[in-house]
Amino acid sequence: MSNMLNVRLQAANVLSRVVKDGQSLTVALDRAFEPIENSKDRAFIQALCYGVIRQYHRLDFILQQLLTKPLRNKDTDIKMLLLMGMYQLKFMRVKAHAAVSETVSAAKKKSWSKSLINGVLRQYIREQESLEEKADQNSSAANSHPQWLIDKIGEDWPEQVASLLEQNNRQPPMVLRVNLAQGSRDAYLKRLKEHLIEAKGVSFCPSAIILAQPVNVEKLPGFSDGLVSVQDTAAQLAAELLDVQPGHSVLDLCAAPGGKTAAVLERQIESISMLAVDIDETRLERVNDNLQRLKLQAKVVAGDATQPEAWVNGQTFDRILVDAPCSAIGVIRRHPDIKVLRRESDISALQAIQQQILDKAWELLLPGGVLLYITCSVLKQENEKQIKTFLSKHQDAVEEPIVADWGIKREFGRQVLTGDSDMDGFYYAKLLKPV
Ligand SMILES: C[S@@+](CC[C@H](N)C(=O)[O-])C[C@H]1O[C@@H](n2cnc3c(N)ncnc32)[C@H](O)[C@@H]1O
Repeated sequence: MSNMLNVRLQAANVLSRVVKDGQSLTVALDRAFEPIENSKDRAFIQALCYGVIRQYHRLDFILQQLLTKPLRNKDTDIKMLLLMGMYQLKFMRVKAHAAVSETVSAAKKKSWSKSLINGVLRQYIREQESLEEKADQNSSAANSHPQWLIDKIGEDWPEQVASLLEQNNRQPPMVLRVNLAQGSRDAYLKRLKEHLIEAKGVSFCPSAIILAQPVNVEKLPGFSDGLVSVQDTAAQLAAELLDVQPGHSVLDLCAAPGGKTAAVLERQIESISMLAVDIDETRLERVNDNLQRLKLQAKVVAGDATQPEAWVNGQTFDRILVDAPCSAIGVIRRHPDIKVLRRESDISALQAIQQQILDKAWELLLPGGVLLYITCSVLKQENEKQIKTFLSKHQDAVEEPIVADWGIKREFGRQVLTGDSDMDGFYYAKLLKPV
């Protein structure tokens, strides 16, 4: 590995950007990777950052026991180095003396902090057992989640809360979506085998393939030609549920970065019209990139789903997909920074937007049409309670129960709890407008 010292410093900077500046881990990592070519360095930074963020609440709890006074906000980089040092000592196969000395030397710009880092990490090594025991007694540290989130998940899923928290802290599988407009899943499985990539199809989702080990997308045969995309099985199910038929006009209301837009088109490419809308113009560029790579076509428009008057031009639709902005608590295993960045107050704000988007979308649905509401959340407030409220306001809406051999049937809609059948946590509800 080239230049260990800078690699650790880079990782600490990425973590500071998340913890101090509120940047998403994906964005902070992408930016940090721009000048780094060595793939081993990238992999090490990524493993450190994801690992520390997954274990953030536990590591931070232990660090508080070791510091005599808290570090100042401007020294968040030093705090991140300390958490990284502890993470390497507990979770990585880095030798103890290397973890300490390399972490100390990464702090070279703040020489005052070297003895602090050295002292704290050595004390951690000496007292590791009792410190870890203490962490096990503290709910937030033991589960490495903020306490408000543990409480919230626990209120909704008292029997499943322990397993949900554990699943959130696991590394998810890498799942592929085969572009069925270009070839069959069996044919792609064969190609993977030829490339010695171990994989299996998912029985209840015709496009999904789970890889035994994650690989870089460049290693996937035909990726750049659009044969395949990376998408969790739960997200792929949306295309099946929307059940688009030839001649349909389809609206994808919260479309970026286009994963579900593409999945719907791949399943029914002939004679449908697709309008993909999102409020975020930058993210919409990724919709265009994805469609181009996958050789698919849609009209892509920047717009606010709560104000369709501004972009819809009187059009109405047979199928509407509302993949609503949500807390994303169901995808914490892929985006562990959600545990650090999300605030409890975000949930009711999101709930209000979701209800507004649903109300507006309903006006655009043709009689006989279907609206599919989706979130990647396990919170009832964003899911079944949201649909209950919607149905109480819209007497003309009928909820069609989703019958499937995955997920849990709820009073309204269907819930996949994180980790069920190896999937992200998702919620779906199908709303029909009678003719
Ligand atoms: C869950 S993500 C969509 C993921 C996407 N459907 C996919 O499968 O790749 C939610 C999206 O809603 C968008 N969004 C948030 N508020 C919106 C609004 N008022 N109008 C339209 N889009 C909005 C966000 O920019 C974000 O891209």
